[in-house]
Amino acid sequence: MRKKIVAGNWKMNLTLAQGEQLVNDIVAAGIQLSEGQEVVIAPPFPYLTKVKQLTKNYPGIFVAAQNCASEKSGAYTGEVAADMLQSIGVDYVILGHSERREYFQESNAQLAKKIDQALAAGIKPIFCCGEPLEVRKAETQNAFVAQQLQESLFHLDAAALKNIVIAYEPIWAIGTGLTASAQQAQDMHAFIRAQIAEKYGREAALGLTILYGGSAKPSNAPELFACPDVDGGLIGGASLVAADFTAIVKSF
Ligand code: G3P
Repeated sequence: MRKKIVAGNWKMNLTLAQGEQLVNDIVAAGIQLSEGQEVVIAPPFPYLTKVKQLTKNYPGIFVAAQNCASEKSGAYTGEVAADMLQSIGVDYVILGHSERREYFQESNAQLAKKIDQALAAGIKPIFCCGEPLEVRKAETQNAFVAQQLQESLFHLDAAALKNIVIAYEPIWAIGTGLTASAQQAQDMHAFIRAQIAEKYGREAALGLTILYGGSAKPSNAPELFACPDVDGGLIGGASLVAADFTAIVKSF
């Protein structure tokens, strides 16, 4: 039975006080998680320790960083190493988000190094993949995503893959209010799972959690999460509103 996850990516938003209030409102909502269901909160780096502290008494709620360095340590001013995140109890790290690929030119090869650093530190990567609108219009999204998987993940052995979560985020749906249809999401998730099965075998593929991200809201989450290969969501804007985020979690 693979994990079901709803993860909230706060991106570069909120003050510490606003973030504390948001977490307190989320935990006050009394979310009832079943076995195998997880909620992950991904605040900006400065708030990770506080969010970890506020959620430590709520089993099933975990904390993610939004990035980590591709190097273990050294003269990389401004960077945050995976070992540093592990030392403050971070559980997951979002890697390869389209905004980091676009604004900070993160390549598939660089992301492979980041994934290795996270795994070596004992942190579980949430690896983001997904195509831009022009690729979707050209109907070459499968080849585009397959290349992202091959160049960033397929150097891993089967044991390492067990610690990976994949998030499919069609770039044209991120922050746009445009959501992939449930069929589009299911088709790509099934394709990703088939790629994993081809490389690592059917059992590994069936055990892999694949999240959908891209304008997921309380209104569309139930239909998306009902798809057989959609194992939850990576939520942006809606994760900043406790009522919306908890409504999405309740639609697991
Ligand atoms: O990482 C999740 C994010 O990219 C999706 O953003 O605002 O479309 O839910 P949003």
